[in-house]
Amino acid sequence: MELVFATNNKHKLEEVQKLLGNNFNLLSLKDISFEGEIPEDYETLRENALQKARYIHDRFKTNCFADDTGLEIDFLKGAPGVYSARYAGPGCTFDDNINKVLNEMGYAENRKARFRTVIALILDKKEYFFEGVIDGKILKEKQGNEGFGYDPVFRPLGYEQSFAEMILEEKNKISHRGRATQKLIEFLLKK
Ligand code: IMP
Repeated sequence: MELVFATNNKHKLEEVQKLLGNNFNLLSLKDISFEGEIPEDYETLRENALQKARYIHDRFKTNCFADDTGLEIDFLKGAPGVYSARYAGPGCTFDDNINKVLNEMGYAENRKARFRTVIALILDKKEYFFEGVIDGKILKEKQGNEGFGYDPVFRPLGYEQSFAEMILEEKNKISHRGRATQKLIEFLLKK
């Protein structure tokens, strides 16, 4: 089955590609010659994921899916949440976002957080959703060089390493996107 993953994020593409294996023919936006940004204008992960999937589906009439992810930090009342990508402002880098979070957290004792991913799939014109969550905590400083985004400051519950200290296979087994993608795969295999 051929499926487009509507993302420009090469890390996400690599993660999901590994999980889907040979079961599906995963196409990137580059493969379908789409260049440019896909808008995400909403205030929930679900609406943003669906907006991204519809954006590509409307233009290319192809089966496709998109994800939207947020880091929810209890001490920051759920922030950065749906604003995780642009938390430190327009054009910010991953490091800018991490530094903002670390500054706002200071030495707070309550460092509980979770990553949440929602995947929206459009298959044969019908829409479906899959969610994955991983609980953990925000470290006081960055650890590790793997992964992307907030990985260096997120340590999943029950582990000694941050996501950025794990190899991709290890992160994929337990991560928010890994879990949501597993649900997507189970669904597709039953089709
Ligand atoms: P997006 O809108 O789904 O691309 O995700 C929003 C932001 O969340 C990204 O720009 C990253 O900063 C962060 N993010 C998403 N997935 C991950 C992950 O697996 N690890 C660390 N940060 C992530």
